[in-house]
Amino acid sequence: MAAKILDGKQIAVQMREELKGRIAGLAQRGIRPGLAVILVGDDPASKSYVTAKEKACEEVGIYSSDNRLVAATTESELLGLIERFNQDPKIHGILVQLPLPKHINEERILNAICPEKDVDGFHPVNVGRMVIGQRCFLPCTPHGVVQMLVRSGVVLEGAEVVIVGRSNIVGKPLANLLIQKSRFGNATVTVCHTKTRNLAEHVRRADIVIAAAGCPRTITADMVKEGAVVIDVGVNRVEDASAKNGYRLVGDVDFEAVRQKASMITPVPGGVGPMTITMLLYNTVESAERAAEFR
Ligand code: GUN
Repeated sequence: MAAKILDGKQIAVQMREELKGRIAGLAQRGIRPGLAVILVGDDPASKSYVTAKEKACEEVGIYSSDNRLVAATTESELLGLIERFNQDPKIHGILVQLPLPKHINEERILNAICPEKDVDGFHPVNVGRMVIGQRCFLPCTPHGVVQMLVRSGVVLEGAEVVIVGRSNIVGKPLANLLIQKSRFGNATVTVCHTKTRNLAEHVRRADIVIAAAGCPRTITADMVKEGAVVIDVGVNRVEDASAKNGYRLVGDVDFEAVRQKASMITPVPGGVGPMTITMLLYNTVESAERAAEFR
């Protein structure tokens, strides 16, 4: 039987409705959550992500400050802008879209964002807090994946999870979240990567497969156990002469074949993507609420 398609858009709509309620609660106290979005350069994929993030803010009632800087922006100019937003009480979240141009040191930039406004969850303080289970901002894509699994009724406790990919943005944080002693964790996690000796052997054992390798067809049907849950975090542009812009988006999973074996599967687009943006909104609202507690 073909897998149930996990509809990220639908879960995202439900979560955004919950957020609207919290935003209304803040409005009664005279607070509007604010997010500063910073994009340096004109990478087309980054531009479309940033536009989608700003549009999502507007839809739920978060103020967004749109900062599009030329590729030649210096590191010290960018640091200056971040410092201004660190000090600005109307801004509760700061997001610097990655990747940055090569002449800018990414680590220095991420470290400059005040951890209390780091709604991407990339600052080492938030990463450290996440690892030891303290209150922090969770990175949006891993948190979105966990929300999607839990809200779809997938049992994490004791599950064999195989993550394919070890990036700082997805693979590593996801592994950390899923091993936490909490209702959003308690899984047994294996992380595979480019030096893993027999990828198929690992993936075949998995109750839950999470593909975050950044390469089409990394996960094929022969690798997937009958009835497994398959989450596809990949977003890859592949040439397609029949598409109006000359390309289409595919994930890391051979979707049509794998859906015949899996019990649940996420599509690309329309799976994890809408959840990532929703978790950014979630963190921004959370940050505004925390700031309000201190007033
Ligand atoms: N580039 C790719 N994914 C992300 C993300 O989640 N946040 C930011 N800031 N940049 C990204």
